Amino acid sequence: MSDSYLDSLPAGFVWGTATAAYQIEGAVAEDGRAPSIWDTFSHTPGKVDNGDTGDVACDHYHRWREDIALMRRLGVDAYRFSIAWPRVVPGGDGPVNKAGLDFYDRLTDALLEAGITPYPTLYHWDLPQALQDRGGWPARETAEHFAAYAAVVAERLGDRIQHWTTLNEPLCSAWIGHLEGRMAPGLTDVTAAVRASFHLHLGHGLAVQAIRAAVPDARVGIVNNLTHCEPASEREADRAAARRSDGHTNRWWLDPLHGRGYPQDMVDLYGTEPPSRTGDLETIAAPLDWLGLNYYFRNVVADDPAGPVPYAQQASVPGARRTAMGWEVHAEGLVKTLRRMTEDYGARCLYVTENGSAYPDTVGPDGQVHDPERVRYLEEHLAACARAVSEGVPLAGYFAWSLLDNFEWAYGYDKRFGLVHVDYATQRRTVKTSGRRYASLVRAHRARSL
Ligand code: FCB
Repeated sequence: MSDSYLDSLPAGFVWGTATAAYQIEGAVAEDGRAPSIWDTFSHTPGKVDNGDTGDVACDHYHRWREDIALMRRLGVDAYRFSIAWPRVVPGGDGPVNKAGLDFYDRLTDALLEAGITPYPTLYHWDLPQALQDRGGWPARETAEHFAAYAAVVAERLGDRIQHWTTLNEPLCSAWIGHLEGRMAPGLTDVTAAVRASFHLHLGHGLAVQAIRAAVPDARVGIVNNLTHCEPASEREADRAAARRSDGHTNRWWLDPLHGRGYPQDMVDLYGTEPPSRTGDLETIAAPLDWLGLNYYFRNVVADDPAGPVPYAQQASVPGARRTAMGWEVHAEGLVKTLRRMTEDYGARCLYVTENGSAYPDTVGPDGQVHDPERVRYLEEHLAACARAVSEGVPLAGYFAWSLLDNFEWAYGYDKRFGLVHVDYATQRRTVKTSGRRYASLVRAHRARSL
């Protein structure tokens, strides 16, 4: 595929890679870290494929210098990583663990020295287990504790970090964690899920205040996984399923952030009200500097009256290309989602904060990892970003998921998303063909923007 589409991306476009703490760090019992809900979940038999856990993961807690050197080789401008709440405030609230905070302090300094801008996320799903034991996200206090933890981190790192993310994909925490039960904490209770979604939003709003108080020049955003939802057929039942899927996936997460409250059709469908108090909706709708989109696949849905709320299931799409996750490869859905955020929600600054694909990569006899399908996925989605920009979408950057193969939550280590292959037996890193391709696109875009 020719790289001429790169011309549409603006000068100064941010090229990054992304990871998350529990997926790469390991060292779960070191330097005062306490368990998170993902430690508990992954150690519960039957919850994660192959019984995998994040105990060691990519051992990034010890190998972070090597991983920064890899990013230098890729030539990226920015690194989106997450800070582990259970390292910094192991009890969820109360005493700060200096050693935990020091780790992110050293990481920040080393990134800056390498010329890589840090984009930390404060919550990528690793709630301290101590807070889960006191009610977790369905409890209002968790939102308040989250803001207090955000203040601790922002006060320590805010002299060097400008770009802050409160939450990663609250949809997954609330819906997959509390409604579908496929992620920690593994509940299947719609009332708990709606309460969790609301307190995640409230925690976000309170954290925005805390970050702005600590870091006057902060640029604060939130990362959502949204997608284009379409009906599997022209049947009215499928069209209604697509509207419900859109409410569940997109409107529930965007409307409150934009001061529109929660969509009434969805409140009716869930049959339970978010536990909002006076002033909460204003807190949640605090103005943001940017929005992050994690995009992997579109939703083509059919009516599923017997299924769980929102009674819509992914339909089979004849001829679809799929990744090892079973996710359909459909770059046009990225354009549509970015356009929607711009046209319907008036976005003024967007980032693709995650995008990528899993394939069963292996190191070949030549010592290389050839991953042509990932190269194609990457190029198609970057071309989609360029199309969106040429249509007027204010897209400021792209973060490839992921820098490294890592612990893919309930799928364990089998699903490899990295631009860099990890041999978990030896912790050896090998840049894949896709990593080299990404590096060449970054270089080409930079050269064209001079
Ligand atoms: C997203 C998560 C990220 C990773 C990718 C594949 O939902 O934010 O941690 O697991 O999916």
